[in-house]
Amino acid sequence: MRIDILTLFPEIFESPFSQSMIKRAIEKGYVEIHIHNIRDYSTDKHRSVDDYAFGGGAGMVMMIQPIEDLILKLKGERNYDEIIFMTPDARVFNQKEANKISMLNNLIILCGHYKGIDQRVRDHYITKEISIGDYVLTGGELAAAVVVDSVVRLIPGVLSDETSALSDSFQDGLLSPPVYTRPANHNGWEVPEILLSGNFKKIDEWLEEKSLEITQRVRPDLLDE
Ligand code: ADE
Repeated sequence: MRIDILTLFPEIFESPFSQSMIKRAIEKGYVEIHIHNIRDYSTDKHRSVDDYAFGGGAGMVMMIQPIEDLILKLKGERNYDEIIFMTPDARVFNQKEANKISMLNNLIILCGHYKGIDQRVRDHYITKEISIGDYVLTGGELAAAVVVDSVVRLIPGVLSDETSALSDSFQDGLLSPPVYTRPANHNGWEVPEILLSGNFKKIDEWLEEKSLEITQRVRPDLLDE
């Protein structure tokens, strides 16, 4: 998979992509992530990337020219499966969407800033819009990092068997059951006995029951889907 991220703040991505699983996925060649600074594509002498909104209103709007030039350059080099725009005014991202995106080959992710981007970029270039939740971030960068993280770990081979995504919360529509490790007794706090029993059929039933119970308590909406 190849992911091209278009941003005004490339440094934001330095840390999340240079640690742990994502770092390993990049090193092993499962994913290539290319960060592009939109400002490098501005053609005016002030290297402007934004302008006042037509019709007034507070906040600057990211203008078409540098974004368009960058998108057209990339599209001239390869075909993209999706050109995604990160924005709070979109459908909310979930595990199902992460699964779908993890099957793609080439992705562009555009991060917005300021008041938004000129609507014509959305109308003519963007093929998918993603919000990561009903709150407003200062820009799309952290949201893009969240999407990339959740997608890259689903690429076959990135996770080992022990950390397999199949047992994740949401993967079967339910939240994960609790997990425990040694010691079995910490100052009188005991691990549920069933987990020490060695009866794997019973253990599986218990885990499933716990999943259902937790989902019912904290996210009953998932059970309606
Ligand atoms: N940009 C600002 N807020 C966002 C959100 N909640 N999701 C995606 N992109 C955003």
